[in-house]
Amino acid sequence: MSQQVQGVIAPGKNEPVRIETIVIPDPGPGEAVVKIQACGVCHTDLHYKQGGINDDFPFLLGHEAAGVVESVGEGVTDVAPGDFVVLNWRAVCGQCRACLRGRPWYCFDTHNAKQKMTLLDGTELSPALGIGAFAEKTLVAAGQCTKVDPEVSPAVAGLLGCGVMAGIGAAINTGQVGRGDSVAVIGCGGVGDAAIAGARLAGAAKIIAVDIDDRKLETARTMGATHTVNSRSTDPVEAIRALTDGNGADVVIEAVGRPETYKQAFYARDLAGTVVLVGVPTPEMQLELPLIDVFGRGGSLKSSWYGDCLPSRDFPMLIDLHQQGRIDLGAFVTETIGLGDVEQAFARMHDGDVLRSVVVF
Ligand SMILES: NC(=O)c1ccc[n+]([C@@H]2O[C@H](COP(=O)([O-])OP(=O)(O)OC[C@H]3O[C@@H](n4cnc5c(N)ncnc54)[C@H](O)[C@@H]3O)[C@@H](O)[C@H]2O)c1
Ligand SMILES: [Zn+2]
Ligand SMILES: [Zn+2]
Repeated sequence: MSQQVQGVIAPGKNEPVRIETIVIPDPGPGEAVVKIQACGVCHTDLHYKQGGINDDFPFLLGHEAAGVVESVGEGVTDVAPGDFVVLNWRAVCGQCRACLRGRPWYCFDTHNAKQKMTLLDGTELSPALGIGAFAEKTLVAAGQCTKVDPEVSPAVAGLLGCGVMAGIGAAINTGQVGRGDSVAVIGCGGVGDAAIAGARLAGAAKIIAVDIDDRKLETARTMGATHTVNSRSTDPVEAIRALTDGNGADVVIEAVGRPETYKQAFYARDLAGTVVLVGVPTPEMQLELPLIDVFGRGGSLKSSWYGDCLPSRDFPMLIDLHQQGRIDLGAFVTETIGLGDVEQAFARMHDGDVLRSVVVF
């Protein structure tokens, strides 16, 4: 048995996205079908469309989503039909060497649905990040569903499924930002702004936002930035040092994913400070640094996969904090759009007009 729904696919490299009929199999063992209520447009969806992630076209795009479980397969006990869930793209296995060492956020064998969603002619789809939620319904591994309080709006909850969690987690989990720290964030889109909000939540004393777009810097202020630097007109490394008594920031978070911004992050941190790379580079990008500087500046250079989050721990916690008014997740939703507006949303993201466009169903 299967069912048919409408979904947005990226048919080929740099081709415009389009709405197609998607065939969704009934959930098999360990799987769930989720009726999507909202799904944010993330830069990673655009990377997929541009061929920057891999060549497994056609992609079923969308991965920042919340919805209601419609049906579950054999052996699924953690979620049940009717549960309001946020989808996550790192359902940990519990058995790999990372999980067994007690570091499940690094899980090397995360789960997705085993069955494939297809087009009507049987062409298998690659769901973005194993989710594919620019669709009325999608098939995932049950472990990709995290139950949260149904009182929160789906457009807001869904953002925890990727960018907002990645940013908050880059600051709190990966960067280990603590009370009194100085933090700089390079790139203030949805991910960078979430890192700023996360740094504020963690008690950072100074939060320096860097972007090439003044509008982004204005929004960054509302998220908690105490200082802003437009790196088109000002050298960001010098500016960050000047704002930190000539030293550099304790933690610098790179949320663009380019070699030149990574270098800025590397040199803008204090001695023995931390660089967190949460922006996603493309496969051809190369980084060159004097090895003596890597040694001499000490500290740690870290990557942040999904903000090193544990969905079962972090999603409900952040929704609690949101409901208490301690972090405003709603501020990330710039606009709500329809399924037919994804291509336009990519253009608006590219032009820097939005933090998050969210498709609502
Ligand atoms: N690590 C993860 O788990 C994870 C999760 C989600 C997204 N991402 C990645 O994070 C990055 C940001 O995603 P987003 O959704 O916030 O994108 P976005 O397009 O909304 O934001 C990018 C921001 O970077 C700014 N920018 C571009 N070039 C710059 C430069 N040279 N210097 C300073 N700022 C610059 C833009 O003006 C914009 O504000 C992407 O690479 C995305 O793929 C990573
Ligand atoms: Zn594992
Ligand atoms: Zn994403």
